[in-house]
Amino acid sequence: MRLTRCKVGLAAAAITFNLLFLFYGPWPQHRPRNSPTRGSRRVSAAGPRVTILVREFEAFDNAVPELVDSFLQQDPAQPIVVAADALPYPPLALPRIPNVRLALLQPALDRPAAASRPETYVATEFVALVPDGARADSPGQLERMVEALRTGSTRLVAAPVSTANPAKCLALNVSLREWTARYDRAPAVPRCDALEGDAVVLLRARDLFNLSAPLARPLGTSLFLQTALRGWTVRLLDLPFAAARQPPLATAHARWKAEREGRTRRAALLRTLGIRLVSWEGAQLEWFGCSKESARCFGTVEGDTPAYLYEERWTPPCCLRALRETARHVVGVLEAAGVRYWLEGGSLLGAARHGDIIPWDYDVDLGIYLEDVGNCEQLREAEGGSMVDERGFVWEKAVEGDFFRVQYSESNHLHVDVWPFYPRNGVMTKDTWLGHRQDVEFPEHFLQPLVTLPFAGFMAKAPNNYRRFLELKFGPGVIENPEYPNPTLLSLTRG
Ligand SMILES: *[C@@H]1O[C@H](CO)[C@@H](O)[C@H](O)[C@H]1NC(C)=O
Ligand SMILES: *[C@@H]1O[C@H](CO)[C@@H](O)[C@H](O)[C@H]1NC(C)=O
Repeated sequence: MRLTRCKVGLAAAAITFNLLFLFYGPWPQHRPRNSPTRGSRRVSAAGPRVTILVREFEAFDNAVPELVDSFLQQDPAQPIVVAADALPYPPLALPRIPNVRLALLQPALDRPAAASRPETYVATEFVALVPDGARADSPGQLERMVEALRTGSTRLVAAPVSTANPAKCLALNVSLREWTARYDRAPAVPRCDALEGDAVVLLRARDLFNLSAPLARPLGTSLFLQTALRGWTVRLLDLPFAAARQPPLATAHARWKAEREGRTRRAALLRTLGIRLVSWEGAQLEWFGCSKESARCFGTVEGDTPAYLYEERWTPPCCLRALRETARHVVGVLEAAGVRYWLEGGSLLGAARHGDIIPWDYDVDLGIYLEDVGNCEQLREAEGGSMVDERGFVWEKAVEGDFFRVQYSESNHLHVDVWPFYPRNGVMTKDTWLGHRQDVEFPEHFLQPLVTLPFAGFMAKAPNNYRRFLELKFGPGVIENPEYPNPTLLSLTRG
């Protein structure tokens, strides 16, 4: 069924009145799921099977009314939900008919909880997520997508929109444990875990609303991170939707504004979803984590077990990067000053295992000869309190005892601990013991001579015979059998 010109005209004329009603009228009643749409006309005995959900648009410049009209022209009873965080401004000119609804997702004092949940507005089995700038122009497109979904093996099907940037497939691996998302545009074995570009995406409503953040923006980023993590793939159909006749964001200023807001939204989304590093084909990296200016992205460590381990995550990649940078800097300073140092504890263990910081470690430990402290200006100054060096690292005497701590910055307290030892009768000892298993005396011959090991992207000094050194400190088999720092609290191997 098509709306006649006259009906379209009437609908348009009613918009002003309806918008007033929408703004000042009562909040629409929550309709129980699966009940028929009030006043809707049926295209088949079963009614429409797809709800059009419009989420990705900019309030300040969009073609959502054109999009909505194009779907109503295909089927006047087409359920359409336009979802926004808050009431769009300037107001969206939507027809005031029962099957077109505006969902405001931000909680509000005067509305019931269900009003801010998008699933409240969807009574159909399928949902088509339609981006701004798309229009329906050939009958039966949605039904063909439904058939492709029903008969195929994927949880999502998609159709490109014929804009300047039509959808293409991406491979996507999400690792929550490592806080990373890895995209690949042209993997050796083509995969479609995510899309880049404009697409209409169709999936079952129960799948969409079972995601943790079904309509978080940017929608493409959030949707595919969640679906890829669940192993759901996309089938990209050759069934293009038309582009809007009057495309949104046509001016350079509008595009600039939309891109700026999109970047802000994306950074906030990735933080919320716990993705701190996005990589593209392993080369281009985008960091969304801590920096010199921010605080350390985990709190004070209790019982040697940082908070992220309880969340089944390892050290955030930005922290590992900052630790590597701090370690390289400290080692450079110590070497330049002629201070004899070596990798200690977990850092030596990481170097022995795989030449890097252990992926769940939260600091770096170095041993030094106590008698060499005087050679190093930074350590001398730290003895008297603390000093910030020319690269912003903070050198200080640890409050916990007789050792030094070098922090990444004044606000970010990721650190390298520097433990001074002195020889006594051929045994290396020190005055502060923190009661860790590895915190024990050891024969000086392990340091005569020191050897060189790759660590955290550079070459660092280490005790000779470091396997025996590590087994002396941590126990037999420690290199081969990784374990969390305090297995009595939380164990890697015992779940
Ligand atoms: C995703 O993981 C698979 C299996 O581990 C790997 O073969 C593929 O290269 C990875 N793709 C990306 C984009 O990281
Ligand atoms: C929702 O997702 C959970 C796993 O995340 C799954 O166990 C459950 O079956 C899903 N429910 C539906 C209705 O698909």
